[in-house]
Amino acid sequence: MRSMRLFLVLAFNALMLLEAQGFTDETDKQALLEFKSQVGERVILSSWNHSFPLCSWEGVTCGSKHKRVTRLDLGELQLGGVISPSIGNLSFLVWLNLSDNSFGGTIPQEMGNLFRLETLDMGSNFLEGGIPIGLYNCSRLYNLRLASNLLGGGISSEIGSLTKLVHLNFYENNLEGKLPASLGNLTSLQRLLLPQNNLEGEIPSELAKLTQIYSLHIYANNFSGVFPPAIYNLSSLKRLGISYNQFSGRLRPDFGILLPNLRNFIMGRNYLTGAIPTTLSNISTLGRLEMNDNSLTGSIPTFWKTPNLKSLLLGTNFLGSDSSGSLEFLTSLTNCTMLEMLGIGHNRLGGDLPISITNMSAKLIRLGLQNNHFSGRIPHGIGNLINLQKLILDQNMLSGPLPTSLGKLLDLRYLGLFSNRLSGEIPAFIGNFTMLETLDLSNNSFEGFVPASLGNCSHLLELLIGDNKLNGTLPLEIMNIQSLLRLDMSRNSLFGSLPEDVGRLKNLVTLSLENNKLSGQLPQTLGTCLSMGVLYLQGNLFDGAIPDIRGLVGVKEVDLSNNNLSGSIPEYLANFSKLEYLNLSFNNFEGRVPMDGIFQNTTILSIFGNNDLCGGIRGFHLKPCPPQAPQAETKHSSRLKKVVIGVSRKKNKQTNDPTPSTLEVFHERISYGDLRNATNGFSASNMVGSGSFGTVFKAFLPTENKIVAVKVLNLQRRGAMKSFMAECESLKDTRHRNLVKLLTACASIDFQGNEFRALIYEFMSNGSLDMWLHPEEVEEIRRPSRTLTLFERLNIAIDVASVLDYLHVHSHEPIAHCDLKPSNVLLDDDLTAHVSDFGLARLLLKFDQKSFFNQLSSAGVRGTIGYAAPEYGTGGHPSIHGDVYSFGVLLLEMFTGKRPTNELFGGNFTLHRYTKSALPERVLDIADESILHIGLRVGFPIAECLTLVLEMGLRCSEESPTNRLATSEAAKELISIRERFFKTRRTTRR
Ligand SMILES: *[C@@H]1O[C@H](CO)[C@@H](O)[C@H](O)[C@H]1NC(C)=O
Ligand SMILES: *[C@@H]1O[C@H](CO)[C@@H](O)[C@H](O)[C@H]1NC(C)=O
Repeated sequence: MRSMRLFLVLAFNALMLLEAQGFTDETDKQALLEFKSQVGERVILSSWNHSFPLCSWEGVTCGSKHKRVTRLDLGELQLGGVISPSIGNLSFLVWLNLSDNSFGGTIPQEMGNLFRLETLDMGSNFLEGGIPIGLYNCSRLYNLRLASNLLGGGISSEIGSLTKLVHLNFYENNLEGKLPASLGNLTSLQRLLLPQNNLEGEIPSELAKLTQIYSLHIYANNFSGVFPPAIYNLSSLKRLGISYNQFSGRLRPDFGILLPNLRNFIMGRNYLTGAIPTTLSNISTLGRLEMNDNSLTGSIPTFWKTPNLKSLLLGTNFLGSDSSGSLEFLTSLTNCTMLEMLGIGHNRLGGDLPISITNMSAKLIRLGLQNNHFSGRIPHGIGNLINLQKLILDQNMLSGPLPTSLGKLLDLRYLGLFSNRLSGEIPAFIGNFTMLETLDLSNNSFEGFVPASLGNCSHLLELLIGDNKLNGTLPLEIMNIQSLLRLDMSRNSLFGSLPEDVGRLKNLVTLSLENNKLSGQLPQTLGTCLSMGVLYLQGNLFDGAIPDIRGLVGVKEVDLSNNNLSGSIPEYLANFSKLEYLNLSFNNFEGRVPMDGIFQNTTILSIFGNNDLCGGIRGFHLKPCPPQAPQAETKHSSRLKKVVIGVSRKKNKQTNDPTPSTLEVFHERISYGDLRNATNGFSASNMVGSGSFGTVFKAFLPTENKIVAVKVLNLQRRGAMKSFMAECESLKDTRHRNLVKLLTACASIDFQGNEFRALIYEFMSNGSLDMWLHPEEVEEIRRPSRTLTLFERLNIAIDVASVLDYLHVHSHEPIAHCDLKPSNVLLDDDLTAHVSDFGLARLLLKFDQKSFFNQLSSAGVRGTIGYAAPEYGTGGHPSIHGDVYSFGVLLLEMFTGKRPTNELFGGNFTLHRYTKSALPERVLDIADESILHIGLRVGFPIAECLTLVLEMGLRCSEESPTNRLATSEAAKELISIRERFFKTRRTTRR
């Protein structure tokens, strides 16, 4: 009783004292009730009413003496509404947590009155507007967290008055502008987190004063400039994240000495150049080192002394030097017993895959070595890496069979081996990989049957085994994998029918079985694969009518060409609104061609080579249908069947993590800004070549996760962007395995207001034939590591001849290339040739004739004029005969090693004459030295072989257009030369 009275007296005195100052707990109560009135969900705050004492209200803590509200903890209470300005009246507040709610609206200025505030956490709400300047009056703030909101505007320089700040977290907002230099005032700062905003500019040098800082994250902004020099001063840094910005320049060689405490250094997706500082390997604390997607060069340092390294990601750079560079770093990684992730794909590393990789940490989850030049076999001990979930060895030169120990990797989710030289059978043990989601064995030399055990891989999303030498039938078991999204077995020698059970694959988006020997009728159940987007069955022996596929309304591409299908073309196809490509050519379809919907668009639809079709819109030039007899009788007469040379439709294979969305065909239009970003502002370091009609840049498109080549055209004609794009669209439809694929185009206005046009092509990792033929003229870093053998040259010549044959004879209308030369012949990973710039001549002729002729005759191309047919000089128009001439010159150059523009030649003494005068006796004198010594068996009749090839070159490069050989002849002859001298099949799958 006594103590109670005493308490009341004391309380009364305290109250008097506070009232005298004009503040009471009544003020706090009013402020909180006002706050509550603005909160959407009030049930939780039901204790906030007059019948409860203020200090026992939910989330409220009072000071022990004055009973004023000092802490308000309302985190994670599902509160909504807005934050009332009355909160600014809680003048004793030290600690305020409103995080993880759904507050919207702005942060009230009045919060700036909370001068005692030390911790303010309003993270994970929907707050918008700017950060009120008043907030920077709260000069005792120690911890300020506004992360994961929608805050915009800049970070004003007044932030420099928060000199007590230790933790500052503005992660994931829409903040923009530059960082104020006054951040350097915050010398107590230990954590500065600004990731995922739109901040830009250089990092102010004043940040060098933040010597207490151990965590600095600014990733995913638009910061630029060289790697911030201020950072070298922050020797206490443990975690540094600057990835996804536009930093450029080199790292200092003493990096590891200046920042000896780093644990995580994440700098992927920038434009940094130069070598990886070897001093990084002195940082014994290093746990994550991620420098992927930059332009780093040189070799990879060793990591003997970084036992804590968990993640090393260096992919998509220019590291290594093809076959010759050191792979000691791989061996050193055996000392990193914590290693979980290793990604060094998309570099220039080469040489036999060292066996030591099998001694790496058994903790390894992900191993990515794709798109390098690794050769040799997959080491036998690969099964030691027992926890591997992703093994990615795509696009190397690995050979031999799959080792049996691979069967131990039962956790595999992703097994990517495409585009190697692997052989033998597909092992049945893959069926034990029950977690497997992607199996990509395409483009190897696997043979034998498709194992039925694959049907046990019940999580499989992608089963990709096209471009091999597989035979046998399609196992029924595969039709049990209901998860399948993509099934690609194209270009093998599979036979038998397409099983009825294909209808069980309800999730299938892509079915590619083209160019096999499948036969019989197409199953009716095909129409129940309702997710189908791409259906490729061309180049088989299917017969009968098209089954009822009216359910496949989402389908985008259907190719049934080159089969023996018959019957009429279903009317309902006209209504497939998503359809972008329908090829029914070279079958026995008959009767009336529908006139509606997509059948009005001759660019989407291909129906030629069906003899008994009639009607249709005029563009198809079909005979009129007989009145009242819409369906002609079936006629199975023997019919000359043209063969369209293997139309290749390879999908994007460069992604590390193919998900269905990134595997979609590249349809997105692309903006100037995107291309500018992707090419580092069209910088010289991204430039990979310049040709007659423009400059080519290597570009990384983050949205597609894909490296592409961007050809920026020099065009003079203004306007007509729409027709330019339309023309490009039509170019996209001409496809051949030996053409560089045009992915998309861009017609736009650049940042200076000039018109800008670019073509975006597949990127070819092995550069141009020109580089391979004249390595001495190539800068060291891009120089091929070896010379091409006679056999490889012959294959390349055949590739080029077959694509010319296709363009000249087999495409809808004959297309002349007009600018064929070694720099326009690009080589992919397995040295298959792809002709680039095809269609450019047609495009330019149609679109900007003036530019075209100006550029052909300009000083810029005179250096390559030796490839242009003589009639071009006398005003002749581009023609297919001109291409044959260029091809002849190309052949001569490939096997003599001499350019037509070599200083040896002049006047009438041309490469043609030079070659002709030496044949046949002195053929070895004029042959390219480097082919005489490599890759040939003892006793190989080299003189004879070379003579035949060079004679082909001469016959193609005759002065008079009418005396030149046709490309189809040239292709045939070259193939027969290959067969005669190289009885073995090509080592790589063609
Ligand atoms: C930075 O700190 C200095 C001294 O502590 C102070 O005078 C100055 O006003 C501060 N700058 C800003 C922008 O707050
Ligand atoms: C590998 O690690 C061990 C243990 O941390 C260390 O003693 C050894 O020196 C390292 N090896 C090399 C070559 O540095």
